[in-house]
Amino acid sequence: IDLPGHMQAALAAYPELGCTGGPYKVWQKWGISDDVLCAGNDKVMTFIDNVLKEVTQLFPSKYIHVGGDECPKVRWKECPKCQARIKALHLEAKDGHSAEERLQSYVITHASNYLKSLGRNTIGWDEILEGGLAEGATVMSWRGEAGGIAAAKQNHDVVMTPNSYLYFDYYQSLDKANEPLAIGGYLPLQRVYSYEPMPKELTADEARHIIGVQANIWTEYMPTFKHMQYMALPRVAALSEVQWTQPQLKDYNDFTNRLISLTNLYDRLGYNYAKHLYNVNISIDSDTKWREIVVHMTTAGDAEIRYTLDGSQPTASSTLYTGAIHLQKSAKIRATAFRNGKSSQVSSQDIVFNKATACQVKLLQPTHKSYTYNGGVTLTDGLVGDKGFGTGRWLGFSGNDLEAVIDLKKPTDVSSVSLNTCVEKGSWIFDARNIEVSVSTDGIAFTTVANKALPALEKNSADGINTYDLNFSQTKARYIKVHATSEHSIPDWHAGKGKPGFLFVDEISVK
Ligand code: ACM
Ligand code: ZN
Repeated sequence: IDLPGHMQAALAAYPELGCTGGPYKVWQKWGISDDVLCAGNDKVMTFIDNVLKEVTQLFPSKYIHVGGDECPKVRWKECPKCQARIKALHLEAKDGHSAEERLQSYVITHASNYLKSLGRNTIGWDEILEGGLAEGATVMSWRGEAGGIAAAKQNHDVVMTPNSYLYFDYYQSLDKANEPLAIGGYLPLQRVYSYEPMPKELTADEARHIIGVQANIWTEYMPTFKHMQYMALPRVAALSEVQWTQPQLKDYNDFTNRLISLTNLYDRLGYNYAKHLYNVNISIDSDTKWREIVVHMTTAGDAEIRYTLDGSQPTASSTLYTGAIHLQKSAKIRATAFRNGKSSQVSSQDIVFNKATACQVKLLQPTHKSYTYNGGVTLTDGLVGDKGFGTGRWLGFSGNDLEAVIDLKKPTDVSSVSLNTCVEKGSWIFDARNIEVSVSTDGIAFTTVANKALPALEKNSADGINTYDLNFSQTKARYIKVHATSEHSIPDWHAGKGKPGFLFVDEISVK
C-alpha cells in the first residue's frame, strides 16, 4: 500500500479519485507517475479508510506502512479541489515546505489517525516528514540517513533503510555490462557491511528511537525469483551483522571468511547468489613521496591470488600475490583467486602513468562532500574515470570550480595537459565552461599557457565523458595549475535553471 502517490493502478480502477478524473491506465513503465490521489476530494479520504480497514483485517501487525514517498505535487498545484482544501485548511508555504507538501501531511495524518482508531501504528517513508510528521508516526529513512536523524530528533521512532547502503536493487559490481540490468547505483557487499545504523549526529537518548534496520529490494527490474535471490544474497548476510553485531566487533575480513561456509550452504540449498566475493578485490593508493601507485589485493578466505601486469589472463603459474605491489609505470593488472584448483572471475584494473601520476595535488576550491574520495590525488591516481560519475574516480564540484595545483616535485618539461569531464544532465551534471592551464616554477607566480572556453550545454548535447587536451609550447615547470570553471547557472531548458550545475572531473594527465 502506498499513498497518496504510487496510486496509478487504483486510479485506473477508480478514476474519480484522481485530480483530473482520468481516464487512467495502469502504469506500464519504470519511474513515478504524476497522477496521484486527489487530496481535495472527501471520497478519497473514505477510500483510504476503507483500504486501510481491509489491510488491517488481513494483517494483524502492530505497524501498517502507508507509503507516503514519491508523490509529485504537479496535479495538486493545478487542481481546484486540492487548492480549495489548501485554502480551507489555511496551509501555507513556510519553513521550507510548500502548501502542497503540507497537504500531503494532511493526507498522511488522516490515514494515521484512522489507523490509531483501529489500534495500529503508522509507518511511512521519510517524505512524511515534509510538511509536518503525523503524531506518533514511525519513519523509514530511505533517502539516505537525514530523514531518520531528523525524525529521531523530533522523538519519532525510525527504521533506517538508506539507499546509500541498503538498496539491494542497486548494482553490486561496477562491471555493469556483466550484471543483470538493475535500476542503477553501486552497493557492493563491503559497503553494506560497513553501515552503522546509529548516526553519530544523535545523542544516546535520541539514538534509542532507531528501532531497526531494513534493506529494500524493489523488484521492477527483476523478472524472476532467481534474479531477486542474486540481488539479495549475500548482501542480506552483511545486513544481518549490521543488525546484530556491535560496531566495535565488526570485521569485514572475518565476515568474508565465515561467508565462504555460508555460501556452501547456499549451494546445497540451490540458491542463486552473487559471487563477487570470491573474486580479487583490487584497491589502489598513491604514494606521493616515492611517486608510486601502490596496489593491494584481497579475496575472501585464504585463497591464493595470482596476477599479471601485462593484461594477460592469470593462470595457476602466474606471479603469486604476497603483498602490496609498487608501480612506477603503466600496467594492466589482471588478478584471479584460486580455490581448490578452481579460478575465480578475473579482476581487472588498468593504471595509466603520465608526468602527474602519484603527484601531490592541492585543491584551491572545495569538492562537494559526497564526491571528495581521496581529495586532490584522486586526479592523479593512475585510475582514469570511466563509467558513471559515482564510481569514486571522479571528483565532483557544485557551486565551486576545479582549481588544482599539481606539484611535479622537480622542474619538468611540459607541453600538454588533458583532463576528462563526465556529463549527466539528468543528474544536474554539466560540462566545464572554461579550462585554463597555468604553470609556475615556485608555486606562487603562475603564467597562463593555455585556455579553452566551452559553450553552455544544450538540451540535446550528449551525456558521457569528454576529453579536453590543452597543448602549449614546451616549457619547464614544477607546478601546474588547472582551473576548470563549472556551470554556475544551469541553462533555462533544464529543471535546475539558474542553479549551479555539478562538475565532475578526473584524471589530469600532464605530458
Ligand atoms: C522508495 O524507495 N521509494 C521508498
Ligand atoms: Zn486534486
